[in-house]
Amino acid sequence: MREKALKEIESANSLEKVEEARVKYLGRSGEVSGFLRTIKDLPVEERKTVGPEANALRKELEEKIAEKKESFSGSGKKTFDATKPGKRTGRGHLHPLTIVDRDVRRIFSSLNFSVVEGPEMETEYYNFDALNIPGDHPARDMWDTLWVKGSGESRHLMRTHTSPMQIRYMESHKAPFQIIVPGRTFRYEATDASHEINFYQVEGLMVGPDVTLANFKFIVEEFFGKFFRKDIEFRFRPSYFPFVEPGVEVDIRFGDGKWLEVMGAGMVHRNVFKSVKYDPEEVQGFAFGMGLDRLAMIKYGIPDIRMFYSGDVRFVDQF
Ligand code: FA5
Repeated sequence: MREKALKEIESANSLEKVEEARVKYLGRSGEVSGFLRTIKDLPVEERKTVGPEANALRKELEEKIAEKKESFSGSGKKTFDATKPGKRTGRGHLHPLTIVDRDVRRIFSSLNFSVVEGPEMETEYYNFDALNIPGDHPARDMWDTLWVKGSGESRHLMRTHTSPMQIRYMESHKAPFQIIVPGRTFRYEATDASHEINFYQVEGLMVGPDVTLANFKFIVEEFFGKFFRKDIEFRFRPSYFPFVEPGVEVDIRFGDGKWLEVMGAGMVHRNVFKSVKYDPEEVQGFAFGMGLDRLAMIKYGIPDIRMFYSGDVRFVDQF
């Protein structure tokens, strides 16, 4: 019985076959089990020798069966099937806002703009005063600004726009120049499909002896053409920002034909030049502040800005 059983286990070529052999010999009505049950009826002398032998046989078969089963399970340390296809490791990818940020940097660099960055926490001076935003302007209200607790001469806040970098850059550089400033901005406001409390802007600033709004229009058109890689409909609308004169807003036709505002812009106000000790009689220039999230929404047809920050992999995996 031992030889027969060992042979069957050894020659089993599948998990099912091993299990068959187990049932046949060790199952409730298996041959070995059946034999073990008859031992108690043997004379005492025979029982003494047959008993231990039969138990040893059962143990041996159990071990052989377990060993054989493991050879099929794949988890066995002894098995390595070099012919099996390998496991694919998931490859990471960029978040849509990172893709857009990189596109914006690349395109403006190709238009000869330098890319600079600035601090996300600002002083009241750079975020407001130096930009000709008066103390009673609604943007300073607690409803718009996330103030940071602390002490010092000038109060600190999370920058509400990238415009403070206009001041920082001009304080340490001479005209002519053209820069963009991509970065994160923060506002204390109610969220909806096109507003977040944390979003991204790209500031643009071009200053020289004879820079005009016509240059701005050319740059915007070039940028949109390269960024969207198709004709898009956009419009300039008169608007007001304390740090430009005249001011405009730029909207793009989006989705079901609605206009989506993507940036504020205008000719740099002379008071801004004065605060950085530039002579407004000698230089002039344009500035703009573009919403990066909004550009991404239009480019990829995303209906709600909050999706970018939802952390839902089903959303980000589509890019
Ligand atoms: C500004 O922030 C000005 N600093 C822009 C500017 C710069 C004007 C230079 C003139 C010269 P505004 O608040 O409109 O302006 O914001 C600019 C753009 O940021 C908007 O057009 C929009 O695209 C985006 N934006 C504003 N608020 C939000 C928000 N809560 N969520 C997402 N995007 C926003």
